[in-house]
Amino acid sequence: MASHTMLLLAVLCVSAATPLAHGLIINGITITNITITGLLVCSETGNVDPSCSSCSGVPGALVQLSCMGGQTTLGQALTNLTGFYKIALGTVDSLLFDASDCKVVIPLPVVGTSCALLPPTGNLQTTVTLVGVVQTLLSAIANFVAGHLTWVHWLTTIISLVFKLLHSVYGLFGFLEKVCVFLGLDLHDVVSLQEVTARYDLGVICKM
Ligand SMILES: *[C@@H]1O[C@H](CO)[C@@H](O)[C@H](O)[C@H]1NC(C)=O
Ligand SMILES: *[C@@H]1O[C@H](CO)[C@@H](O)[C@H](O)[C@H]1NC(C)=O
Repeated sequence: MASHTMLLLAVLCVSAATPLAHGLIINGITITNITITGLLVCSETGNVDPSCSSCSGVPGALVQLSCMGGQTTLGQALTNLTGFYKIALGTVDSLLFDASDCKVVIPLPVVGTSCALLPPTGNLQTTVTLVGVVQTLLSAIANFVAGHLTWVHWLTTIISLVFKLLHSVYGLFGFLEKVCVFLGLDLHDVVSLQEVTARYDLGVICKM
């Protein structure tokens, strides 16, 4: 009897000390569902363009949530008539969701739309940002919004790989300065390390 009690205690202690293997916990709340919302506009970038008053939402576009370094599509949705989309993840997929890794990806060209402004090839993609948690009796939903869309095509992918390689060889700032000088440009006075490593985008590195 006593040894059973000891065993039970030991099991309880171990399970209490073992954190959940996966899953999102925000402010102590275990998230059961995740939503990602966003808007696709018929502009040259897919983003809201204040200088384009006639640019409206793109209807019927496929939007995917790509995770695990692009290995898995956890969810997808179509944009509605005004270009909005909402990807909803159930409990199992929410366990695999990692906001620092998952991206919203819109494959181009968007079929079945009359929008001629969007780029014809590649992807539009963006990261997601938490905006709030809604708790009910049965669920805790973490709501994320999609950020600013960036056009990604094979050329930018190659440039980004070359950037990453040179960066690892020369160190960040020495290398960046070399790149800008090579292009006849000046290094930005304040280069945000986070932004550079997140995007490897020339525009945030050199003064253009
Ligand atoms: C599309 O979704 C947005 C956000 O949910 C909503 O405000 C809008 O009314 C919807 N448009 C249509 C045509 O249903
Ligand atoms: C959460 O996900 C489950 C499926 O895992 C689904 O049955 C449930 O309706 C979802 N809850 C909400 C509020 O979306």
